[in-house]
Amino acid sequence: MRTLVIPAAGLGTRFLPATKAVPKELMPIGPIPAIQLVIDEALGAGIDHVVIVGSAAKPALEEYFAPRPDLERLLREKGNDAMADRLASIGRDWRVSVVHQDDPKGLGHAVGCASGSVEGDAFVVSLPDEIMSGPEFLRKMIDVCTNTSGSVVGLMEVDRSEVSAYGVVAPAAEMVDGIVKIEDLVEKPSVNDAPSSLIIIGRYVLTADIFDEIARLTPGAGGELQLTDAIRAQAQRAPLHGVETMVNRWDTGTPQGFLAAAVEIALVHGWADGLESQLRVVLDRHRD
Ligand code: G1P
Repeated sequence: MRTLVIPAAGLGTRFLPATKAVPKELMPIGPIPAIQLVIDEALGAGIDHVVIVGSAAKPALEEYFAPRPDLERLLREKGNDAMADRLASIGRDWRVSVVHQDDPKGLGHAVGCASGSVEGDAFVVSLPDEIMSGPEFLRKMIDVCTNTSGSVVGLMEVDRSEVSAYGVVAPAAEMVDGIVKIEDLVEKPSVNDAPSSLIIIGRYVLTADIFDEIARLTPGAGGELQLTDAIRAQAQRAPLHGVETMVNRWDTGTPQGFLAAAVEIALVHGWADGLESQLRVVLDRHRD
């Protein structure tokens, strides 16, 4: 497994006006762009080729992956070799390809745009709105794909009232060691129609024949070409498993979620000396 696909062509309307100029994926969590945290997770799981599905409307995303020899030179002159090395490694130690999805027709369509860049029998898809606390979960998903020769989706149990915002799976059996065989899946069901309260989170390991199913997609929930529907079609003829997350997951899809994630991730990584006491002062000030 070598390739990670990151769908990143969205307009980020929930983050306007910031996203008028700055792609949401580049917004910083501490000093790190959110998309870099998603890439780091995958590198830790053995990926070495990243395919960004961007758009012509978001040139800054491509600039982030381009070399900056001038900046590296400046950093070295100032003795900051560590940061210069870090910048140099972007797009060198792991490869980046950028493809465009200029007509946003849904997640299935976005992944389909990467078909010409994916190498191997299977590949990873990570949605950049979701940040995981480590690579263990993705590593386990990749192992399950290797062992079953079938696609794997990331899962999380939520309160039943929340299922309508997600893809929801119907397990075919009991979950064992966080792994479950999946019988069926449905995109954004009503609470009453949902087959379970196990939702699909933004991590997928897909066998490459998913592109045949994507090519056959017709509009599904919300009128979009849904990845869930392509996986559903694939599961009619191939094994499909789910792996329940055992790491922390931060949903940065809303400004509040993003802020909360940024604070907790900074605390976890110890990025911000004194942040904890600063936060205590701020929270005290705003208690009622
Ligand atoms: C997408 C998928 C959905 C999945 C969700 C996870 O939905 O279509 O199946 O549960 O991501 O975040 P979206 O958030 O794009 O509506």
